[in-house]
Amino acid sequence: MNKEIVIVLDFGGQYNQLIARRVRECNVYCEVLPYNTSLERIKEIAPKGIIFTGGPASVYAEDSPKCPKEIFDLGIPVLGICYGAQLMNHLLGGVVSKAPVREYGKTEVTVNRDSKLFKDVNETTICWMSHTDYISKPADGFRIIAHTDSCPVAAVEKPEQNLYAVQFHPEVMHTQEGTKMLRNFLYEVCSCTGDWKMASFTEESIKKLREKIGDKKVLCALSGGVDSSVAAVMISKAVGKQLTCIFVDHGLLRKNEGDEVEEVFTTQFDLNFIRVNAQQRFYDKLKGVEEPEKKRKIIGEEFIRVFEEEAKKIGAVDYFVQGTIYPDVIESGLGKSAVIKSHHNVGGLPDYVDFKEIIEPLRMLFKDEVRRAGLELGIPERLVFRQPFPGPGLAIRIIGEVTPEKVVMVQDADAIYREEIAKAGLDRQIGQYFAALTNMRSVGVMGDERTYDYAVALRAVTTTDFMTAEAAEIPWEILGKCASRIVNEVKHVNRVLFDCTGKPPATIEFE
Ligand code: XMP
Repeated sequence: MNKEIVIVLDFGGQYNQLIARRVRECNVYCEVLPYNTSLERIKEIAPKGIIFTGGPASVYAEDSPKCPKEIFDLGIPVLGICYGAQLMNHLLGGVVSKAPVREYGKTEVTVNRDSKLFKDVNETTICWMSHTDYISKPADGFRIIAHTDSCPVAAVEKPEQNLYAVQFHPEVMHTQEGTKMLRNFLYEVCSCTGDWKMASFTEESIKKLREKIGDKKVLCALSGGVDSSVAAVMISKAVGKQLTCIFVDHGLLRKNEGDEVEEVFTTQFDLNFIRVNAQQRFYDKLKGVEEPEKKRKIIGEEFIRVFEEEAKKIGAVDYFVQGTIYPDVIESGLGKSAVIKSHHNVGGLPDYVDFKEIIEPLRMLFKDEVRRAGLELGIPERLVFRQPFPGPGLAIRIIGEVTPEKVVMVQDADAIYREEIAKAGLDRQIGQYFAALTNMRSVGVMGDERTYDYAVALRAVTTTDFMTAEAAEIPWEILGKCASRIVNEVKHVNRVLFDCTGKPPATIEFE
């Protein structure tokens, strides 16, 4: 079967995977390849179209990423974006110049609606610009199809060769009709049929994994989170019991979570599932420890130790699965920013597990795409739409020392909170919400008795990227119901507080 695919050639821009994702949203399969992918390889893939990404370089810099200009002779439509647009123009003999100032932000662009690229796009439309260099003279045979007040060449085309180039970024949300433009490129220019769905991705991935793994052994550290669950199920569908999943229960999971994960993976999928009940080991190590980063470190290290002990029992394996998804790839690559909190789920590989290669089947997907893949694979909704849960678990939602009693308190309070939020139908609208146990005790009265007990804090945030967040507005009556149920049903809690701080200055978690 000749599969319909569009490739994105990566020239170093920050939105490369986003372009691929937008194309997939238009039901056309898309992958990102390095800019120096050979022409032979491209011919083999036979894509319906090629998109050049943006990038920080200048086409005149000696070491700037370039592709051979013969790429335009392959008979494959090309869309150049930003740097990609300049490169296309430069390679074909046009002139690119440096502007005295950078054009940055939302910009009104006037487009020529006769161009296939702008079919059904408004004549003036808001686009996202971010460039210093610009096309000052289009290459021979190219016609200008868009301009702005300060940029006379905002887009060009050579329709007889199916070459298109835009100075702005159609892939970002700020470009109001960007999706329409990409869709036009895919359907009007590349004549795609749009038969791709997430189902095809999962099927195709399973097939590829089966071919790659053959009869070899695979090991997976399963956390019960969306990413590792989807990765594990995909591999189990490919090679069944050649996959062993180790699930370390550190005793810091939400109420009943360990049992739920065990239930799903032992009854619904074909794989070897090992649950390690290491609760007490973690509690022992955390005894007397109050400092958040120290807690994280202890949990991270203990986790690896427990995992290794189990893995040693299995012996050498060929592959180790990681549920890395695309945003992890970017975040862990940032490197230079200050360590606010050490997130140990990225790059926290056990040192002594005996494996030859890592497989990351979700590396190019965004979170919502992982969720869609999870549903395709038959993973229950409650796991697929599970909110993000930190690796150190409830330990960072208990301020100060962690004790088994406090774990039960925060688990019970959190379960009530989640139940009420779900009942109110708000569970999919709020990015993350949970109960935390403060280390504050205060005076209360229950019946005729004075109490001196703990305060639970409820947190709820809306966020798109978890880097910034706003406190979610939860109706009073729901908060009131939670407060009264928590103080009535959870022992040693006599006060419930709601955290209405955004991030920054607060973080989402309390520690
Ligand atoms: P913060 O608290 O940094 O949280 O605003 C941002 C997101 O990261 C999660 N988080 C963690 N995840 N290990 C993890 O795996 C950690 O140590 C950790 N700390 C915070 C948090 O739940 C939120 O989604």
